[in-house]
Amino acid sequence: MTTGTLARIIDGKGFAARLRETIRAEVATLGFTPGLAVVLVGEDPASKVYVSNKAKQTVEAGMASFEHKLPATTSEQDLLALVGRLNADPAVHGILVQLPLPPGLRAEAVIEAIDPAKDVDGLTVTNAGRLAAGLPGLVPCTPLGCLLLLQDCLGDLSGREAVVVGRSNLVGKPIAQLLLQQNCTVTMAHSRSRNLPEICRRADILVAAVGRAEMILGDWIKPGATVIDVGINRVAAGDGKTRLVGDVAFAAAQRQAGWITPVPGGVGPMTIACLLRNTLTAARRRERDDVISNHELV
Ligand code: GUN
Repeated sequence: MTTGTLARIIDGKGFAARLRETIRAEVATLGFTPGLAVVLVGEDPASKVYVSNKAKQTVEAGMASFEHKLPATTSEQDLLALVGRLNADPAVHGILVQLPLPPGLRAEAVIEAIDPAKDVDGLTVTNAGRLAAGLPGLVPCTPLGCLLLLQDCLGDLSGREAVVVGRSNLVGKPIAQLLLQQNCTVTMAHSRSRNLPEICRRADILVAAVGRAEMILGDWIKPGATVIDVGINRVAAGDGKTRLVGDVAFAAAQRQAGWITPVPGGVGPMTIACLLRNTLTAARRRERDDVISNHELV
């Protein structure tokens, strides 16, 4: 069964541009400059593009961008020492270590070295635990972006059936926590789930974050559902070129869904906008805490 009409496109690109503008306007009123440090180790081409986009948008939002580019041969000890210096640097409010790291560097050890108050990626155990416990912290950027898009098109999410396909620490687990906090009934599915099509068909909200090109087919989608596609997969386009596709077979899904994010231009642009938002949040909290501790001193 199809709805007969095509799903409405969720314009993540436009939403992200408006969010960045709101952040820029707020930064201008702060009276100090929030700073974001981004650490890139090695030469991964996709990571290089992400990092230069982050730096550009940080500066456009009126924040200071500190880029640290290190060779792939960097030792874990040197990387940890850099993180330690950034933790101690008062001009730095947010720290992001771009993943994946080159072989030989343990991402968990490096992430854990980041001060949770500066962990704008929301990946430290402290921030993951705070999210799970419903306490304020810093929330991973892509999941936060997904939630903002969902609230923008659906309003209150209470009581809705949400299915998250994918269980990564970066996306699947935190988005499930955020949806639970919004009173959704959340199912986490993954590559080992039995009857994945059936599970997906229950979803009023379907979040695809598996990293497998067009794995979720049109007839897995409940008519009228809202589909958030976090996947960014490069596939052959047939003419020797490549193109980007999501985890959802878009054309077929668009005939079933009520709302759907495109790839590219859906969730992708929200990640950096939310990184800037987290940097602003971290900067505001530090400023507030500094004011409190100064009062305590006098
Ligand atoms: N690599 C791909 N996405 C991300 C992200 O959101 N944060 C970090 N640190 N690395 C990434």
